[in-house]
Amino acid sequence: MTSSTIHARVDGPIVIIGFGSIGRGVLPLIERHIGHDKSRLVVIDPSDADRKLLDERGIKFIQQAVTRENYKTVLHPLLTAGGGQGFCVNLSVDTSSHDIMDFCRSINALYIDTVVEPWIGFYFDQSKGPAARSNYALRESILDLRRRSPGGTTAISCCGANPGMVSWFVKQALLNLKSDLGLDGREPKTREDWASLAHRLGVKGIHIAERDTQRSKNPKPRGMFVNTWSVEGFVSEGLQPAELGWGTHEAWMPENGRTHESGCGAAIYLLQPGANTRVRSWTPTAQGQFGFLVTHNEAISIADYLTVRDAGGKALYRPTCHYAYHPADDAVLSLHEMFGRAGERQPEWKILDENEIVDGVDELGVLLYGHKKNAYWYGSRLSIEETRKLAPYQNATGMQVTSAVLAGMVWAIENPNAGIVEADDLDFRRCLEVQRPYLGPVEGHYTDWTPLTGRPGLFPEDIDTSDPWQFRNVLVR
Ligand SMILES: NC(=O)c1ccc[n+]([C@@H]2O[C@H](COP(=O)([O-])OP(=O)(O)OC[C@H]3O[C@@H](n4cnc5c(N)ncnc54)[C@H](O)[C@@H]3O)[C@@H](O)[C@H]2O)c1
Repeated sequence: MTSSTIHARVDGPIVIIGFGSIGRGVLPLIERHIGHDKSRLVVIDPSDADRKLLDERGIKFIQQAVTRENYKTVLHPLLTAGGGQGFCVNLSVDTSSHDIMDFCRSINALYIDTVVEPWIGFYFDQSKGPAARSNYALRESILDLRRRSPGGTTAISCCGANPGMVSWFVKQALLNLKSDLGLDGREPKTREDWASLAHRLGVKGIHIAERDTQRSKNPKPRGMFVNTWSVEGFVSEGLQPAELGWGTHEAWMPENGRTHESGCGAAIYLLQPGANTRVRSWTPTAQGQFGFLVTHNEAISIADYLTVRDAGGKALYRPTCHYAYHPADDAVLSLHEMFGRAGERQPEWKILDENEIVDGVDELGVLLYGHKKNAYWYGSRLSIEETRKLAPYQNATGMQVTSAVLAGMVWAIENPNAGIVEADDLDFRRCLEVQRPYLGPVEGHYTDWTPLTGRPGLFPEDIDTSDPWQFRNVLVR
């Protein structure tokens, strides 16, 4: 595969909503790999900070916020102009994935996003309780839409790096484990097959285990939130309750853990913000680290996807699944500062772009644990240096996301009538094939590390020595 292979063609307009760190980075990948008519590519964003990139290419830019009131009237003409099947690529904050996806399907336009985003105000609505502000609730709203309107035009929910690519990594990691453990049987084809494989392999849980070591040339100023991707996005999700797919092997739940009364039942939430909840995890660079248990859609979708149920619907097996995110050191400092002020975001913020980063990697993978070989991390170890060579306008974090969006777009064009789907439902091989050239080294590593390694240390601890992989041992308390 060359770096300019055209994977698929859009025969209608492409509308990109949001031209922030991800929108900017997706543009060169669409230009390279998706056949399209440039005169029918449109970008919408209330901020014109990067419109120069569009002007110099002659790409149409509309400076406008997409809102609950205007989304149909703004998007309809753009997605239908000139005929053919339109494609809506939603990479914005504060726009409802649910409503825009629903509308796109009603006019036969393909749709993709990287998060179930709500309309502005949702994340900080004091009148909503923690359960209503959860990703569980947001995901259930999409599952509900799917139940009410099955089939039809393809809309891919949550197809970035995580959520997104990591669902494909989980499948590849399960196959690698299957081969390394010498388990026989054919390759899984259905959801049930994958769940059964995870069960037979004895996978107790999965961390989405990430270490971002990208460093800025300039030390972080006090009073500024610094991150390698959307600050607005990170702060919003970081202040949602911590949430995790809840495994059937768990023998203990934190006192402030809560289950949901309706829906798939695959996850629980804690009565505390995810970005202020630490867990013990492992990546190849860190070899043991604290990560933040920030709520993410994939923690719920992967756990749900891999659930084995009996005939009556009772869960017989489910892996625990959650994010264990060590963001860039500047972002860790930013969170420390923010929670020191009861979660009030700093007045200023900055997303580090590829020119301000001096070095570092974004190491993003899945840690499958609790099986016969203890734990296996499989993921991308993409450096800023390599990213700069691969494509413009993005850092390593962004590239893992934008290349997953590209892969999802290709899949959607190749499968235009798949209805509403999540990353877990896509052909993981095809998606990774498209994405792989942009991921740097993709590696698998076994480790004998567990959350009990080196513990207890100098002080007594409340730990479960009978099973190192209990959430009780993972959660920092
Ligand atoms: N799944 C993943 O792996 C992943 C990773 C990174 C980001 N994301 C998500 O992707 C989205 C974009 O992230 P980013 O880093 O580019 O964020 P960003 O903050 O850099 O950019 C967001 C853009 O949306 C625009 N915007 C704000 N309100 C809008 C509106 N009403 N209509 C249209 N545009 C609007 C902003 O002006 C901004 O340019 C976020 O929702 C983020 O959570 C997902």
